[in-house]
Amino acid sequence: MPLLHIRNEVKPLLKMKIGLFTDPHYCNADVLCKTRRPRLSIQKMRCALDEFKKNNVDICICLGDITDRAPNATKEEGLECFKEVLALINSYGIPFYFVPGNHDYGVATGEELERLIGSALPPYTADVCGIRFIALDANYRSDMNRYDVAGVLWTDSNLPPDQIAYLSTALAESPYPCVVLSHENLDPNIPRTVHIIKNAEQARDIIRASGKVKAVLQGHYHKGADNMIDGIRYLTLPAMCEGEQNSYCILEF
Ligand SMILES: [Fe+2]
Repeated sequence: MPLLHIRNEVKPLLKMKIGLFTDPHYCNADVLCKTRRPRLSIQKMRCALDEFKKNNVDICICLGDITDRAPNATKEEGLECFKEVLALINSYGIPFYFVPGNHDYGVATGEELERLIGSALPPYTADVCGIRFIALDANYRSDMNRYDVAGVLWTDSNLPPDQIAYLSTALAESPYPCVVLSHENLDPNIPRTVHIIKNAEQARDIIRASGKVKAVLQGHYHKGADNMIDGIRYLTLPAMCEGEQNSYCILEF
C-alpha cells in the first residue's frame, strides 16, 4: 500500500507541542454506562481547545470516540453531534488529526467520516515540526473486515496485514523520530485485556526494531495508563467523557 502522506510543516522546529484528548463520546445523553457524561463533553472540548490555543500548540489530536450513540438516537442525530464537534475544533484554526474509535464507526461509515473530517482515515503519516506521526486504525474484526462493514465488536480489535506493512514502511522510510497513534491499545499492560489489539505484539515488535519511536499514544481504555516498554512511552490518555472532571493534555516533544 503506498504511503498516504500529509505534510504540515507548521514551523521548522525540533520542539513541538501537541494538544491531545480522547474519548469525548459526545452525544445527547446525560449519562451512559453509569460513569460517562457525554453531554458535558462539548464544553470540555471547548476548555481543552482554549488551553491548546493559549499554549500555542502546533497541532491537536483526538484519539477517537468523538461521538457515541445516545439511546434511541437516529443516525442523523449521531452525525449532527459529530459535525458539531468538528465545527468547534475547526473554529480554533489548529491543524487537527483524528484517529477513529469503535464508537465513531457506530455512528458513521468510513466514507462518511472521511467526508466529515475532510481528510483520509488512517493509515496515514503526517510530518510536523520534525516528527513523523503514524496513525493506525485497529477497528477491524479478526476476519479483517472493518467495523463499519462487519458491525462494531469492540472486544475484537485487529490491525490488518496491510497496516502492519504500512507501519513497517512508514518507520523505515522516516527521516524523523516517530509517534504512533491508535485508538485501541498497543500497550500489553492494560489491565482489561479486551482493550488490547489482538495482534499488538506484532506491531510492538516493529516499533521496537525501528529504534525511531518516541511514543505510542492511545485512547479506548478509559482509566488511562502510562508505561515504558522497550524504552518507549506507551501513553493511554484517560477518557474525556468520564465523570464531571475534564481530561486532556499538552505534550512536548
Ligand atoms: Fe471510548
